[in-house]
Amino acid sequence: MIQQDTTLLTIEQSEGFPAPNIPADNPITEARSQLGRKLFYDKLLSSDQTISCASCHSQGDVFSDVNQFSTGVGGAQGGRQGMAIFNLAWHNGGFFWDGRATTLREQAVGPIENPLEMNETLANVVSKLNNTSDYPTMFEAAFGDNSITSDRIGLALENFMLTIVSNDSKYDQYLAGNVTLTQSEERGRRLFFGIGQNNMNGPGGGGPQGTVNCAQCHGGANFDSPQYFNIGLDGDGNI
Ligand code: HEC
Ligand code: HEC
Repeated sequence: MIQQDTTLLTIEQSEGFPAPNIPADNPITEARSQLGRKLFYDKLLSSDQTISCASCHSQGDVFSDVNQFSTGVGGAQGGRQGMAIFNLAWHNGGFFWDGRATTLREQAVGPIENPLEMNETLANVVSKLNNTSDYPTMFEAAFGDNSITSDRIGLALENFMLTIVSNDSKYDQYLAGNVTLTQSEERGRRLFFGIGQNNMNGPGGGGPQGTVNCAQCHGGANFDSPQYFNIGLDGDGNI
């Protein structure tokens, strides 16, 4: 019997960034986030053990997929791109491009059973994890006993994904007053926020005449919006 490890993990975040939204029943602990991280990188979660979450959410590409459509088990092609996973603790609204998952823990186990992604059953994953030498102990440290359930898999993955935070970018440093932007960056900033007049005259600019104003949709600290927009992309994004 090992003891539950409830040591909280401190997450670094930029000065001035709002407080993260962490579920009260899933505080970020070292044991849970380490378990979640191991699950995230583990190909055992897929039916033929070739695909992990990281196959489509690669750290080197901001935990996203560089391909337009993600490839799952057996070369199956999905209808959408694996999106960048970061700053989910500041996420506005539902998850997925269309917001159909309301919580991260619910979202996290979805790919396991999606035939175009990991094509596995949760029951099989539970039994595969039970047959390893390290997972039962890690579940025990994370949750207090060694029972492995799909709910706990979801909680651990949620825990880990909430730790993926963009911190101290050049823009964060600019907001903190520690660096200045180049002229070109400053022009982009003004266009993005629809500040003042510039050379972007013509139809399509959403802001005051002559500006673009991306921030009307990409707003707030996280540059996102809880709303869903039809921005005229091709219509067959079904999965
Ligand atoms: C085969 C590729 C693939 C695999 C494997 C995969 N994902 Fe994804 N992921 C996607 C795609 C594509 C989307 C966008 C789907 C949509 O909008 O319908 C997505 C979306 C997400 C989102 C939503 C993020 C947001 O901002 O709304 C999260 C979180 C996520 N995946 C986590 C995971 C986890 C955890 C795993 C492993 C258990 C995983 N993914 C495995 C392709 C994949
Ligand atoms: C009317 C609302 C709206 C405006 C205005 C807008 N966007 Fe977007 N943007 C979206 C939506 C919706 C998506 C997601 C598209 C999808 O579903 O594939 C998006 C996606 C993006 C992405 C891709 C994000 C990712 O994770 O892959 C970038 C980058 C982006 N927008 C930049 C901009 C810039 C720069 C501007 C200003 C020139 C702008 N947007 C103006 C709504 C908007």
